[in-house]
Amino acid sequence: MSANLPAESPPEVGVLLAAAGRGERAGRGEPKQFRPIGGIPMLLRAIRPFAQHPCVRQIVVALPAEFAARPPEWLAELRGPRVSLVAGGSTRSASVAAALAALDPACSIVLVHDAARPFVSRETIDAVIAAAQSGAGAVAALPVGDTLKRVPPPGDRILETVARSDLWRAQTPQGFPRAVLAAAYARAAETGEPATDDAQLVERLGHPVRVVPDRSTNLKVTTADDFLLAEALALR
Ligand code: CTP
Ligand code: MG
Repeated sequence: MSANLPAESPPEVGVLLAAAGRGERAGRGEPKQFRPIGGIPMLLRAIRPFAQHPCVRQIVVALPAEFAARPPEWLAELRGPRVSLVAGGSTRSASVAAALAALDPACSIVLVHDAARPFVSRETIDAVIAAAQSGAGAVAALPVGDTLKRVPPPGDRILETVARSDLWRAQTPQGFPRAVLAAAYARAAETGEPATDDAQLVERLGHPVRVVPDRSTNLKVTTADDFLLAEALALR
């Protein structure tokens, strides 16, 4: 490395946006990621903080195949060297894998984010990038605040209260050195073992993954009620 370079030059960050779901729990109508919140489509709100970030070189958005082929106008307008659109898959992991395969090779740090989280803060993005740059995986997360009960199906009887002191809720973005995430997805393709987030695949490699304290405003919009909360957050 040249002696003239700063010790830590800014990383080239690639962002994979998982937006290929059907939004079934949000009810009928267009897929939730395209629905407006405070007049702005949820996916556009999710893209913006990354598009405005100086370290982000490229954003790859995984969409349902029919929307990748014919995106809404506001999304088609963004397409270019910095934003590309790909067809996702039948699971979230397959969608992220498709986006990763399309990512600019120059991106050495990769952030994965759910289009269903339209209110991620700049502070969280910065903290996840910094942790990933140090070599570990990084998960935006919140300490669990509720009391947790174990209720074995099919009944409604509580078996026990689960100690929560060391439990965190994993959110997104999740950030990784690119080689680590690529290795995790290569292994997942071999084993076929399902995972509900990207960190889980990296944990299986035995690679360290850390939590980065996030804000509760970075909520995931899942149900119709969540849209009510999101509308209120959009007023801030
Ligand atoms: N996602 C994806 N590809 C899939 C499934 C989900 O890219 N095959 C994305 C969703 O678009 C969303 C994120 O993963 O941004 C988190 O998933 P979730 O909140 O479960 O969204 P949906 O799968 O769309 O909703 P539902 O499970 O209610 O159908
Ligand atoms: Mg889903």
